[in-house]
Amino acid sequence: TSILILNGPNLNLLGTRQPEVYGHTTLADIEVLCRAHAKSRGTELGFEQSNAEGGLIDAIHGARGVHDGIVLNAGAYTHTSIALMDAISSVQLPVAELHLSNIHAREDFRHVSYIARVAVGVICGFGAAGYPLAMDALLAHLAQAD
Ligand code: DQA
Repeated sequence: TSILILNGPNLNLLGTRQPEVYGHTTLADIEVLCRAHAKSRGTELGFEQSNAEGGLIDAIHGARGVHDGIVLNAGAYTHTSIALMDAISSVQLPVAELHLSNIHAREDFRHVSYIARVAVGVICGFGAAGYPLAMDALLAHLAQAD
């Protein structure tokens, strides 16, 4: 099994970006956490970040035949990007949507997710701990689908 963890815009600034909302954990810390977790679960891992909508779409296309599923924190594109939603619909890969913050407890514009319409499920509000949770949720889904 192989999972792609895909992070969207501004997540490269984690650790210094609004720490009161997103915590002090950096994206590099999260990668270490995810790699250790993947190892413990005996799964392969890809870890990518792009600030660009097209970069995220290319990463989703590129996951075909390489990974079995995607954990996607699309950042603010979650709430705006029909193109990202269509990219997910265009590849035969299950997606677990992830957010560090509880988007439902925040501004109204964050309550809408285009990703959720095409995701298997959503994890939000648990900070960096959500990454391994989403990996496990995706692995459970993949085991079920076998
Ligand atoms: C986020 C939530 C989004 O609303 C926001 O635009 C982000 C981060 C999160 O992980 O909590 O960039 O996806």
